[in-house]
Amino acid sequence: MSQNKTILSGIQPTGKLHFGRYFGAVENWIRLQQDYNCYFMVANYHAMSMPFTAKKMAEQSWDVCFNLLACGIKPENLFVQSLIPEHTELAWILNCFTSYGQLSRMTQFKDKSAQNAEGGEGFISAGLFTYPALQAADILIYKADLVPVGKDQEQHLELTRNIAQRFNNFAEKEFFPIPEALYTKVPKVMSTADPDRKMSASLGDKHNIDVFADEKRIRKQVGSAVTDSGADAGAMSAGVTNLFSLLDASGMHEAHASLMQDYEQGTLKYADLKHEVANGLVAISGDIRERLTELKSDRKAVKNQVKQSSYEIRKRAQETIKEVKDVTGLMNVRF
Ligand code: TRP
Repeated sequence: MSQNKTILSGIQPTGKLHFGRYFGAVENWIRLQQDYNCYFMVANYHAMSMPFTAKKMAEQSWDVCFNLLACGIKPENLFVQSLIPEHTELAWILNCFTSYGQLSRMTQFKDKSAQNAEGGEGFISAGLFTYPALQAADILIYKADLVPVGKDQEQHLELTRNIAQRFNNFAEKEFFPIPEALYTKVPKVMSTADPDRKMSASLGDKHNIDVFADEKRIRKQVGSAVTDSGADAGAMSAGVTNLFSLLDASGMHEAHASLMQDYEQGTLKYADLKHEVANGLVAISGDIRERLTELKSDRKAVKNQVKQSSYEIRKRAQETIKEVKDVTGLMNVRF
């Protein structure tokens, strides 16, 4: 059944890949590839909606491609958004099926425009405002059924459903399937330095553990994880809870069971817990780094592969655009 369902998700080429993102998104994508028809996209057009430089844009877009492939995304499922210009073409059309009022209510727009107003040069691009219409285009152009995203993207997904509905009403048929968010149960990974906050790149280096960090650094960061906050007498502290969930997420189920038993008997040594968590993360990181080194030994071949898969995936996008133009009375060039 699920074999026929199509999944699309995107990741912006900003920030590094830390274990919060790995366990929270990427690992899930890798699993979904077994059961669904998947499209995973490097959202470089989206990244232009905030201040950027050409150099960073190019570098980080390739970095994300290499990193995702090293993690286990299948090359044929991966593409770069700007290699498929039909995304922006559909985005324009969908902009005309999106209401100004709805866009103004997007919390991500409000947050990011406030961020630019304070930190940046006060420049708030129209792209930042219409970003959700581009996101809708990413999803609808492949007629995706399911979109694995975090809760922060819930509002954009709801808007996409709205846009699809409005377009279907216009077309007087079920032109686009109404996509659903796929919230798989993923571990919530907190910062080891401040376990009350989510592991995140924007909080600073000590608040996230880089998947590509070397062993020494991973062990050091896990070793200095906050365990007791003092505030939560009786209940398991946020820091210890986080370490246990990292242990579980890294597949160290036996160590998890036995250390949990120690915890329940009141004999748990934090050093043991940290040691096992570090072992788990180091093992995952080691495998991924090994694959990354391999990929980087022939960068050109990998880049060509990404371009080739984008070229193949583009054919699907072109089919949809052609249908959309027929439905909306726009001209099609027929060869
Ligand atoms: N907006 C998403 C984010 O910032 C990235 C993204 C772009 C996306 N297009 C998408 C996610 C389509 C899911 C589907 O995380």
